[in-house]
Amino acid sequence: MERSQAVALDQQDPLREFKKRFVITDPDTCYLDGNSLGRLPHETVKAINDFLHDEWGREVVVGWGHWIDEAQNTGNLIGRSALGAAPGQVLACDTTSVNIYQLASAALKARPGRKTIITDAANFPTDRYILQGLAKAHGLKLVTIDNEDPSISSNELITPELLESYLSDDVALVSLQVIQYRSGARQDVKALTDLVHRFGALVLWDAAHAIGSIKLDLDRDGVDLAVGCTYKYGNSGPGAPAWLYVNKTIQNELQVAIQGWFAQRDQFAMGPTFEKDQSIRGFQIASPSIIGLRCINTSFSMIEEAGIEEIEKKCATGTSMMVELFEKWLQPLGFTLITPASPTQRGGHITLAHPDAERISIALRKYVNTVADYRTPNSIRLAISPLATSYTEVFDGFARIRDLVASKSYEKVAAGESRVT
Ligand SMILES: Cc1ncc(COP(=O)(O)O)c(C=O)c1O
Repeated sequence: MERSQAVALDQQDPLREFKKRFVITDPDTCYLDGNSLGRLPHETVKAINDFLHDEWGREVVVGWGHWIDEAQNTGNLIGRSALGAAPGQVLACDTTSVNIYQLASAALKARPGRKTIITDAANFPTDRYILQGLAKAHGLKLVTIDNEDPSISSNELITPELLESYLSDDVALVSLQVIQYRSGARQDVKALTDLVHRFGALVLWDAAHAIGSIKLDLDRDGVDLAVGCTYKYGNSGPGAPAWLYVNKTIQNELQVAIQGWFAQRDQFAMGPTFEKDQSIRGFQIASPSIIGLRCINTSFSMIEEAGIEEIEKKCATGTSMMVELFEKWLQPLGFTLITPASPTQRGGHITLAHPDAERISIALRKYVNTVADYRTPNSIRLAISPLATSYTEVFDGFARIRDLVASKSYEKVAAGESRVT
């Protein structure tokens, strides 16, 4: 792979014009961390400015007359553009963590008498901690599949055979990620969901690393419950509202733990007792951040305009290019690839392991203007965010990693220099 091939890929890229629609203050930066926080769209700057001046500033409280249902309307946009979800099943609200707690607790309540929750050791920390808390609070057993052990699983993948060995009619809930946050492995959503349904349990999918990088088909795949954020490939900004998906077929049987006033059927009657609304609003807790929702609106409208199929294709091409450059330049320098080799088994990022991963990740930012991130114990994640990253940027970033590591100049930095990795 030569640089000219990356330039040619950019010239043929149907998404190439989107990069100009993001704020890029230093064109020399190779930003390969859009899987952690996406770039800021220019349209978001205008939309938020307009909202402040023309709506909050001018209308003040009268604005709630047309803001009140925005969590649902924005949820429908997320569902349509990125999740394969028909209207009325997605809400844009709260954080991924709060939504995990809400939906997991609702699922457990819907399977009374069953005492087991299943998750995996490589699941994102917040998912594991919340499930630990729920298991403790309700006297349940949390079973953790050890997919960090290479003799049990490769690249953290959970095959139906592996999951089946843990299933029984005591299982209430299985909670997994669509794309593993560390290894980047993509699980087979449909096969695993179908399998869990055979045992009468519910599945909660964390799609934080999948949304905006691959085509999700939550309705088609019969998914029960899913959550995710909007700030990674969704480009909606740090701390922007997350989303939750509840399949229409099970909405009536589920009640979330926090029954707030936005879920009340006749909200402004302010009645004495809670009565759940029968639409997706029945899963909303409280007042949404309208500023946050407007950030989602501009960025997910861009995803809709680009088309999630094209986005997924660019992730596949971009990550294949990374794998090729890894084999040519980085493998000889002591890196190993911990992401599956097939693009259908990953999303927008690949992960390379190296004994000095933490120092290399810090030095990349500090010395060579290349942004990736480090995940314990020894991984560097590198992403292509299809609307904001060019193929040339990926190529140049990899060349900088090669030169930095070959020269050993990363050895000048100390591990642990930053609280955030
Ligand atoms: C897979 C996954 N799940 C959950 C979270 C937690 O998200 P939040 O802090 O928005 O709750 C993250 C954050 O990066 C994540 O990557």
